[in-house]
Amino acid sequence: MAKKEDEDETVEEKQKEEEKVEPIDTDYEYKDIKDLPGVGAATASKIRNAGYMDIISLATANPLELAEICEVGEPTARKIVAEAREASKMNFMSGLEFEDKRKSVQRISTGSQAFDILLGGGVETQAITECYGEYGSGKSQLAFQLAVNVQLPKEKGGLEGHAIWIDTEGTFRPARIEQLAVAKNVDPKEVLQNIRIGRAYSSDHQALLVDKIPELINKDPKIKLIIVDSMMALFRAEYVGRGTLADRQQKVNVVLHTLQRLADRFNIAVYITNQVMARPDVMFGDPTVAVGGHIIGHVATYRIYLRKGKKGSRVAKLVDSPSLPEGEAVFEITANGITDAEEEKKK
Ligand code: GTP
Ligand code: MG
Repeated sequence: MAKKEDEDETVEEKQKEEEKVEPIDTDYEYKDIKDLPGVGAATASKIRNAGYMDIISLATANPLELAEICEVGEPTARKIVAEAREASKMNFMSGLEFEDKRKSVQRISTGSQAFDILLGGGVETQAITECYGEYGSGKSQLAFQLAVNVQLPKEKGGLEGHAIWIDTEGTFRPARIEQLAVAKNVDPKEVLQNIRIGRAYSSDHQALLVDKIPELINKDPKIKLIIVDSMMALFRAEYVGRGTLADRQQKVNVVLHTLQRLADRFNIAVYITNQVMARPDVMFGDPTVAVGGHIIGHVATYRIYLRKGKKGSRVAKLVDSPSLPEGEAVFEITANGITDAEEEKKK
């Protein structure tokens, strides 16, 4: 009998112990990745180069992805993620904390008021914005404009920030940047200086360049925009035939997730472009579909479909967004860059 009471007491104590609320450990950054059990300096550096800059980003990593990029076995990767979770005492964020994080979201103007309104104020940080459309629809032009606009003062629609540009098609044009800078009354050479360009020659090279971004951010904390123009060109060229499609999508997925993590972690806007491919099997409706289809669709926060409109105008359609209504905006591409369409301006 006495023994039973003892047992009850222990159970009660245990319950009390469990009810104690663990304080949220917001001080997780004091610990370095290399301090995790089972992670040596070499692995730590591989992990960091892969874009996981701190314990918290590692705690949210996908073990399979980690195993692949860091070239460790799957069990090791699982153990590392588990240790990171333990070390960061990962808790759910309260709605209020989440709201606070959202408050730090900033926006870069596209140059067109109508387009900005469609996007809820411009291209957002902490998100991937994808633009897809046919040849000449203006995907790269928007990239040029954003690379200039991000550098403008806040009251002019910028973030006083710098940009990284991953060019997979060799279409980056310094002269166009200078032209747009002059139109905005800013020093063209300085604007060019503040854009880091990486020319990718293969999909592996593209992935490698993305992995190098954390290093660039460490050196230049003013980076506020990452452009990948275009996201899928090299992947599409290299992976032909359906046999390798899953493999391709998996690699694209890794790159996209790295970009999303960078966007979240450093409050950066990510802008990627994507060609559309003709679909001979579609007889009615829109015969085009974004290359890389559903993979990008699931990762990108905002998807914009660009097409040519009347009298040389362009139409942007918001296809997918977490909170904004679907809609369209008409704008123009001029020598001075992206502006509202003439008719829109008159309104
Ligand atoms: P792809 O990369 O080929 O898939 O196309 P894209 O969507 O990237 O097209 P891009 O952004 O390069 O748009 C090119 C179009 O922008 C041209 O066909 C022109 O219509 C327009 N454009 C580019 N520069 C100027 C300019 O200086 N003045 C004017 N008026 N239009 C321009
Ligand atoms: Mg282009």
